[in-house]
Amino acid sequence: ATGSPMLMHRLLEEDLLERGGGRPFDPAPGLLRRRGQGPVQPLRLRNGAPAWLVTGLDEARTVLSDPRFSADRVRHPDATGLSPQEAEAFAATGVAPARPHVERRTDGMFIFMDPPEHTRLRRLLTGQFTLRRMKALESRIREIAAGLIAEMTAAGTEADLVPAYALPIPSLVICELLGVDPADRAGFQERTAISLNVKASEQERARAQLEMHAFIQGLIAAKRAHPADDMLSGLAHEADPPLSDAQLVDIALLLLAAGHETTANMLGLGAFALLEHPGQLAALRADPSLLETAVEELLRYLSIVQMGVSRVAVEEVTLGGVTIPAGGTVVIAMPEANRDPRHWDDPDRLDVRRPRAPHLAFGHGVHQCLGQQLARVELQVGLGELVARLPRLRLAVPAGQVPLRNDMLIFGVHSLPVTWA
Ligand code: HEM
Repeated sequence: ATGSPMLMHRLLEEDLLERGGGRPFDPAPGLLRRRGQGPVQPLRLRNGAPAWLVTGLDEARTVLSDPRFSADRVRHPDATGLSPQEAEAFAATGVAPARPHVERRTDGMFIFMDPPEHTRLRRLLTGQFTLRRMKALESRIREIAAGLIAEMTAAGTEADLVPAYALPIPSLVICELLGVDPADRAGFQERTAISLNVKASEQERARAQLEMHAFIQGLIAAKRAHPADDMLSGLAHEADPPLSDAQLVDIALLLLAAGHETTANMLGLGAFALLEHPGQLAALRADPSLLETAVEELLRYLSIVQMGVSRVAVEEVTLGGVTIPAGGTVVIAMPEANRDPRHWDDPDRLDVRRPRAPHLAFGHGVHQCLGQQLARVELQVGLGELVARLPRLRLAVPAGQVPLRNDMLIFGVHSLPVTWA
């Protein structure tokens, strides 16, 4: 689960995620070593289960849009040769939350469902992501970002951008979406931060997750009793047939898990990448209208979800000239698919002026990221405000000392000490 470091390391025979020092923004050396071996490559899982790594962009899109590949990695535990609990944990390595009760089958975790089950829940959610709500959120995000920068600059001339900026922005945005009372937001933020902190002990993380679970249950009861103008109230009252409490809890936890760690790491790693590419940063400062393409390029270039998207073949499929048997696990190598030389010129170069082209960072097909418009606004505003309000922003430590999230499936930085003096 998210917050479960090492899970992929445990499953994969080779170490495909470990990065040494040096080139923090490129795909891990284990992935680079496999370049030139074709768009679909055999992969060894430690338990001996058959698996394939998809490095080609077209092949990845096929996997994510072809119904012969299932997202229900829990119903197909044999495919991985894992116990059902392990299979669920494996399926959850990408964007799913750590669940306090792994033995329970998912009620509303539609990221692991196939159509038609998936379709109904997804539609209910998209119905809540209204244009009006997104517009209102955009101005709130601007206020939140400006407020955090004001707090940082009032406190001194140095800060760690991860706890001071990257983590609170998405956490507060999810509070807005779910309609968390302002009085409860500090506690909400603290628990989400602990559940993602590798330095916290297993017990501390488990406790924070249990508390979050209980908090969400209370929040749902409150929205049922006193609906307000937020997404959770909408879901609690507008669904027909109504959603159960268990479904609503899962949906809220899914939004939190899928929307928090991802966005926070894009903000942290995105800021680091810009600071390490001064020419690109200068171009962005000179012309803020580049923000939109810059964010798309950072999403492509950084591919933070790494190997977190996988599927199971429900029947035999031939893909990229390779036959995948029924039950085979297919792991998308997002950093490689997003640098497929058949699609991008000079793919290993960060270029904030690169014409916007469809990348894979938000996935593809029926499960394509539901929060992508919101994530884009958070990144455009979050990075844009940093660049505009702190013109002298730079690293406060040598780049080689920035601790990378080598131990987490969602890549990023554990901290980012900066100064603006
Ligand atoms: C799905 C990436 C932000 C909610 C996904 C998937 C990816 C992804 C790759 C597809 C997973 C799969 O096919 O197995 C990202 C990235 C983000 C981000 C890189 C930030 C930069 C958000 C935000 C929210 C969100 C802000 C909501 C508040 C979801 C949900 C799904 C999803 C609900 C499941 C959709 C489905 O199964 O139909 N995301 N995401 N994400 N994302 Fe995001």
